Amino acid sequence: MKIGVVTSGGDAPGMNAAIRAVVRCAIPKELEVVGIERGYSGLITGQIVPLDLRSVGRIIHLGGTILKTSRCPEFRTPEGIQKGAEVLKSNNIDGLIVIGGDGSFKGAVELSKVSGVPVVGVPATIDNDVAETDDTIGFDTAVNTAVDAIDKIRDTALSHERVFVVEVMGRDRGFLALEVGLTVGAGVILVPEIEFDLGEVCKRLMAYQERGKATSIIVAAEGIGDTSTVVKYIGENTPFEVRFTKLGYIQRGGSPTARSRRLASLFGVHAVELLLSRAKSSMVGIQGTTIVYKDLEEVAKKRKELDKELYELAMDLAI
Ligand code: ADP
Ligand code: F6P
Repeated sequence: MKIGVVTSGGDAPGMNAAIRAVVRCAIPKELEVVGIERGYSGLITGQIVPLDLRSVGRIIHLGGTILKTSRCPEFRTPEGIQKGAEVLKSNNIDGLIVIGGDGSFKGAVELSKVSGVPVVGVPATIDNDVAETDDTIGFDTAVNTAVDAIDKIRDTALSHERVFVVEVMGRDRGFLALEVGLTVGAGVILVPEIEFDLGEVCKRLMAYQERGKATSIIVAAEGIGDTSTVVKYIGENTPFEVRFTKLGYIQRGGSPTARSRRLASLFGVHAVELLLSRAKSSMVGIQGTTIVYKDLEEVAKKRKELDKELYELAMDLAI
């Protein structure tokens, strides 16, 4: 049996650890493993390389993905999927492991239907927005990168007694912002899933000041829209000096944390097991501390809910 592994969508720290786990689990089971380079763009154009035990040595600690990745608009069309299916067939690939986010899984479901090749999804995205799994590869690393950056910002915020608005990634979702906001002790967390009123945000900041808090960090998800309007509004409606930092792509890079590496290693191994044991396309996930197997098509259709109670808890602590 020959299996393919591909990384797709935004890169996430720990993708390499997952590739390593797939290869190191599959080869002793006498499976042949090939890597598909540059996500679905590389699949469509047949960019396929053999992977052996040594080719995945010394990568467990590296961010990014040795296979490269891409966003591939052509794969969103039936023609693109057809091309991908033909490449799988002509290369005798019997099963595919897709390491990526929910967009990649949508493509994988279509690819599997057209090609008849079973696909296993391995959730890897700093956004942690994949349904049916509590955690995704790279999320913990991105959270820690953002926390580290905000801890530095806090030094200058405190010294100048300023309010800082810090924008974090997450695409149109607020999972990253909530986790970062909770763990830096943000004064306000703004996420797309929870409506907010800027007047109320200003009142909160003023109440903090009355209680002796001269500075606050506001963690805003990029998905709330134009963050500069938040900065402008607070600047115009409170006595505070306000500054803005967009953390940007540093959140996607760097050496994966131990937790991201651990998750990637478990997911990689279970993905191979799953490919061998199930004909239907599936996803490996984690719920609590338990590894779970889910139907990939169901996952791709579902929207993951933000934990509103956790949001309330974080806000209750910000007094
Ligand atoms: P992620 O996998 O991190 O969510 P994207 O949403 O960019 O990232 O998806 C990665 C790639 O998956 C896209 O560039 C595209 O090639 C493919 N893809 C996304 N959505 C679909 C879809 N609905 N149908 C087919 N392919 C898709
Ligand atoms: O999905 C991961 C992510 O980093 C999002 O948080 C962000 O909105 C997006 O990718 C950026 O995408 P690109 O790399 O295509 O600019």
